[in-house]
Amino acid sequence: MTELQQTPAWLALEQHYRQNKHLHMRDLFDQDENRFEDFSLNLNDILYDYSKNRVTDTTMTLLLTLAEQSDLSRWIERLFSGDKINHTEHRAALHTALRDNGDEPIMLDGVDIAPEIKEERAKVKKLAEKIRSREWRGVTGQAITDVVNIGIGGSNLGPLMVNEALRPYSLHDLNVHFVSNLDESHINGTLEYLDPKTTFFIIASKSFMTQDTMVNAETARQWYVDGIGNDDNIHKHFSAVTANLTLAREFGIADENIFKMSDWVGGRYSLWSAIGLSIVIAIGSDNFDELLAGAYEVDQHFREAPLAENIPVIMALLGVWYNNFFDAQATAVLPYDQHLHRFAAYMQQVDMESNGKYVDREGCEVNYTTGPVLFGEIGISGQHAFFQLLHQGTKLVPSDILAPIFSFRCIPRHHRALMSNVFAQTEALMRGKTEKEARAELERQELDQEAIEALLPYKIFPGNRPTSTFLFDTLTPRTLGSLIAMYEHKVFVQGVIWNINSFDQWGVELGKQLAATIESELNDAEKIDTHDSSTNGLINHYKQRRPPSKSLYK
Ligand code: F6P
Repeated sequence: MTELQQTPAWLALEQHYRQNKHLHMRDLFDQDENRFEDFSLNLNDILYDYSKNRVTDTTMTLLLTLAEQSDLSRWIERLFSGDKINHTEHRAALHTALRDNGDEPIMLDGVDIAPEIKEERAKVKKLAEKIRSREWRGVTGQAITDVVNIGIGGSNLGPLMVNEALRPYSLHDLNVHFVSNLDESHINGTLEYLDPKTTFFIIASKSFMTQDTMVNAETARQWYVDGIGNDDNIHKHFSAVTANLTLAREFGIADENIFKMSDWVGGRYSLWSAIGLSIVIAIGSDNFDELLAGAYEVDQHFREAPLAENIPVIMALLGVWYNNFFDAQATAVLPYDQHLHRFAAYMQQVDMESNGKYVDREGCEVNYTTGPVLFGEIGISGQHAFFQLLHQGTKLVPSDILAPIFSFRCIPRHHRALMSNVFAQTEALMRGKTEKEARAELERQELDQEAIEALLPYKIFPGNRPTSTFLFDTLTPRTLGSLIAMYEHKVFVQGVIWNINSFDQWGVELGKQLAATIESELNDAEKIDTHDSSTNGLINHYKQRRPPSKSLYK
């Protein structure tokens, strides 16, 4: 492949950047009264306003040329048609098949996988509806009151985020809990209030080998056995979602409670699969179908809309513009809907595990930056915490703002105030406050001249800080499905442009390997000298200070 930075589109963007980097969005808005109409897109109830970005028509044309030069349209087709684009694992990345409600066959290796997907989904729904309707009974004949999903990464973050986001759609007398942390306080803190007779576990792990999940799963089983007195009816309380059927059976899960994941679903793209069991239990089959339908609508849009009107493509190109030309190292995701309070955490895995790579598809080190640091928080909380840096810091942090036009139980007083902050923040970040405006403001406060001059530098806001705003009617399952799919595809497009494989995650392996070795070194009180002095020092300090009980070593 031609070196990305030597391609005509890249060189043209570089030149364009040099000539226009000081353009201020204030001026762009002053010069073009149609800027909002020209730089915003709609899909169903979602308005995507990207007019508060440091782009002109020319910028967008050049970015779209970059996308074309990267053969993006062909890559999109490869994604949807099940090509093995995850080349390091020889796998397709067919999460889109899981929400495809069309009638066409979905071919993978010459086999139509659509019937298999429908069958697995039907099995998930059947169990979920039995639990929801109280037909499913535990060991003593009582109905299930609490469901605990044990998993981590993609087997936790997606279902957790969706369940929080769609809480208003959940049954109120059936609680769904999530346990991910190896720190025993997570599982203990959860199980402490539960009754094994009315608790149902989902062991969610594609590999069924992830240490965090398996240790928690063993603890859960022991808790159940201790509470009930035996494991005779464990099948009434344990299920598994996995691609590793053998290990799930060995753990003791009954075949009818094992839900299959396919190897062509990446963990971080798996909430649409049986990994969504906890979601279906919480919100029901119809709402889950709506979630899938919202994602499917975006899939169709992504596949069919011209690149210039394609929301995930525009999101991705703006990211590349800031990441590679403005050298912006981070990006923020800032929902103003409280139900989306885990959205940024989930997107962190989708984005950073996908595009945090320094080796390209040819196995060569890249000489440009790839995925940004993604962080985020509920916007209104962020305003009182880290927005200072967004407004007046030395770093450029392009931010996404997501907000509902009406919230689920809309109290007008609350929502009006909330939305005023949404609009105010995007305006403030864009316009800033000039020296003249700041001075006039201080003069109105009738300060003396010396005080004005002393305060003035602190009161100036440079502005020109980019935001893109997603406004949607309300956070329905369908809208949420669409928003998630938009981000998934954004990440894919960026991977295509950076020529990296967004679907593997070799970078998480080294730590896992070392932890396995170190865990065995913690089994006794012997001093360790096999690592560097820092790691030796930390391990030996830990060994010396931990309580002497031998049972803690096992
Ligand atoms: O360690 C990273 C990772 O492999 C993620 O990609 C994945 O979502 C998570 O661990 C959990 O993996 P599993 O579902 O196999 O337990």
